[in-house]
Amino acid sequence: MQLELELNGRQRTFEAAKSDILLDVLRRNGYTGPKRGCDTGACGMCTVQIDGEPAMSCVTPVANVAGATVETIEGLGTQDDLHPIQRAFVDNSALQCGFCIPGMIMRSKALLEENPDPTETEVREALEDNLCRCTGYKKIVEAVLDAADRMDGESPAATDGGERIPSRTPSTCPREEGRSR
Ligand code: FES
Ligand code: FES
Repeated sequence: MQLELELNGRQRTFEAAKSDILLDVLRRNGYTGPKRGCDTGACGMCTVQIDGEPAMSCVTPVANVAGATVETIEGLGTQDDLHPIQRAFVDNSALQCGFCIPGMIMRSKALLEENPDPTETEVREALEDNLCRCTGYKKIVEAVLDAADRMDGESPAATDGGERIPSRTPSTCPREEGRSR
């Protein structure tokens, strides 16, 4: 079959078998950002966005995405111009081996599109299906909260691993009192 979809903002057509799984088609065609971890929908490392929703591409039949809008980590920033979420992960040292990070970032992006100002609890709940064997999650959660601030103010940020640039002056808003940094 010919699989037609909008991938990272471009109309694309791929050759695929009806029985193919989205992760296989993506990786076969050079989109290796989505990682293969468990291959059973249990680890989140293959997470992409389908029609704006986070989805495990390792358990998504290609037939389900014909005509859909799919976004992978390759659709975000480039090495020289990172997406704010990618910058926040770098600046907060929120990665070690990095294998889980594309899935984490795509899941975080979906969260922030739906909820631009999440609490720490909401971030943890949103990421609970994405496993990480290295970081202990604390820095990942901090990175997502930082990304929410950056996307709110679209402020510049260091990408050299240096000191984090505060994105805005401390707020006195009571909604933010419960946020733990
Ligand atoms: S590889 Fe898809 S959920 Fe683990
Ligand atoms: S950074 Fe290694 S699995 Fe998450």
